[in-house]
Amino acid sequence: MESASRQAHWEKVYTTKGENEVSWFQQSPAPSFELIVQAGATHASAIIDIGGGASRLVDHLVEQGFADITVLDLSAAALEAARRRLESLADRVHWIVADATAWEPAKAYDIWHDRAAFHFLTDEKDRAAYVARLEQAVKAGGHAIIGTFALDGPEKCSGLPVARYDSAGLAQALGPGFRLVHTRRHEHATPWGSRQMFQFSVFRSEV
Ligand SMILES: C[S@@+](CC[C@H](N)C(=O)[O-])C[C@H]1O[C@@H](n2cnc3c(N)ncnc32)[C@H](O)[C@@H]1O
Repeated sequence: MESASRQAHWEKVYTTKGENEVSWFQQSPAPSFELIVQAGATHASAIIDIGGGASRLVDHLVEQGFADITVLDLSAAALEAARRRLESLADRVHWIVADATAWEPAKAYDIWHDRAAFHFLTDEKDRAAYVARLEQAVKAGGHAIIGTFALDGPEKCSGLPVARYDSAGLAQALGPGFRLVHTRRHEHATPWGSRQMFQFSVFRSEV
């Protein structure tokens, strides 16, 4: 999928649907937050949420005192929704509207978090572009936490095909620069009560 049509798709989603009208809505970002803490994040750690959309993870990180948070997403409308919700606290966050496969990182991060963005990259070329940014943007010894649909998860999300993973498949996709340190499965309940199986894997940058 070309970047422009990807962006048009997501802008339409976030301008036509409310927060809890999307399958990925999560009131509490507990699984992601726990893994960020487990990866050794301190309040001074630079944390980026890739494809963060309108997720409440950023609210939680700000509330808990994390001071260097960036949220990147293709959709300006998604980030605007999160900013509105955070009100004056939004100024404590760096917001980037960009395609994760084309963005040029301006700094390095201790923690790269991605819940349900990487799995939309079904072309090898796009995955390679994402991994190049990941390698560039994560500090040596830093961590990448990537949540995707598991092998027994749905084949589509938001009407788009996804690539499903287990930790071994994801490790292969990320390449030798990242060592798997932890993986867990997570069953997500959509706002309408259906179940979606995710995997979250944590990798340490070895480069
Ligand atoms: C299923 S939603 C998940 C949103 C958020 N991570 C959460 O957990 O609520 C996928 C998000 O990834 C974003 N996205 C998809 N492809 C992207 C890309 N290539 N670069 C940046 N963001 C992307 C979409 O705009 C959308 O916000």
